[in-house]
Amino acid sequence: MTTYQTVEDGDVLLRDGTIKLHGPAAFEGMRKAGRLAAETLDALVPFVQPGVTTGQIDDLVRQMTLDGGAVPATMGYRGYEHSCCTSINQVICHGIPGDRVLKDGDIINVDVTPLLDGWHGDSSRMYLVGDVPIKARRLVDVTYECLMIGIEKAKPGARLGDIGAAIQQHAERHRYGVVREFCGHGLGRLFHDAPEVVHAARAGTGPELKPGMFFTIEPMINLGKPGMKMLDDGWTAVTRDRSLSAQFEHSIGITETGCEIFTASPLGLHRPPY
Ligand code: MF3
Ligand code: CO
Ligand code: CO
Repeated sequence: MTTYQTVEDGDVLLRDGTIKLHGPAAFEGMRKAGRLAAETLDALVPFVQPGVTTGQIDDLVRQMTLDGGAVPATMGYRGYEHSCCTSINQVICHGIPGDRVLKDGDIINVDVTPLLDGWHGDSSRMYLVGDVPIKARRLVDVTYECLMIGIEKAKPGARLGDIGAAIQQHAERHRYGVVREFCGHGLGRLFHDAPEVVHAARAGTGPELKPGMFFTIEPMINLGKPGMKMLDDGWTAVTRDRSLSAQFEHSIGITETGCEIFTASPLGLHRPPY
């Protein structure tokens, strides 16, 4: 059963399984947090180059986040100590920044979540490092299309499953695998809240979308099979068959007529090559 809860600014919100329906002040808060996330991802475009380490990317993300008056929500989150996730090539998600040096031909996802005035802006994009082979570029392209095709389905009256169905259909048409182990999620005052936004689903199933719902869509698409394997660090998720994986993420809010993308790039740097 799905329970909705109309929430107001100042309410203490719990992860109680209810889907929160937010008002205008919350939209304004998410707009600001989402904009900072997008500006941070924009600033990375000239920076993500061969020779740069994922630790240096993390440093830039932390600096931009703090300069913007926010804190990285990932710092201290379930023991995670970094300001972003950096997922290279066969890493599906939650790659840990460190000494790894980017090299020509890598594809990398950077996932940022500034927490600004109590609101979470969660977004990620892919970056191409130097000359990237066509097979990898096509994967990145189709993954971006999967995100946007999912977003097109996000409007009042639709079901959550319509989003996953559209994403799955597009990915599988290209013989890619949709990762099942990780989902999009409700967010707002909380980083990860109901509902779970699965990226492979049946149309017409799941909760009805209502104005005021905030959630992410963040499809992870593998060049090979959908399977995942967790590395011993407990965070890094890689493709079981070691094929390449790509991901894009936006935070959105359902409006009366459709949805608002809180994390859209102010510079129009939506998809690579930027
Ligand atoms: N930003 C990720 C998401 O899209 C969550 C990262 S949690 C971390 O939900 F701890 F791994 F950073
Ligand atoms: Co997310
Ligand atoms: Co994210």
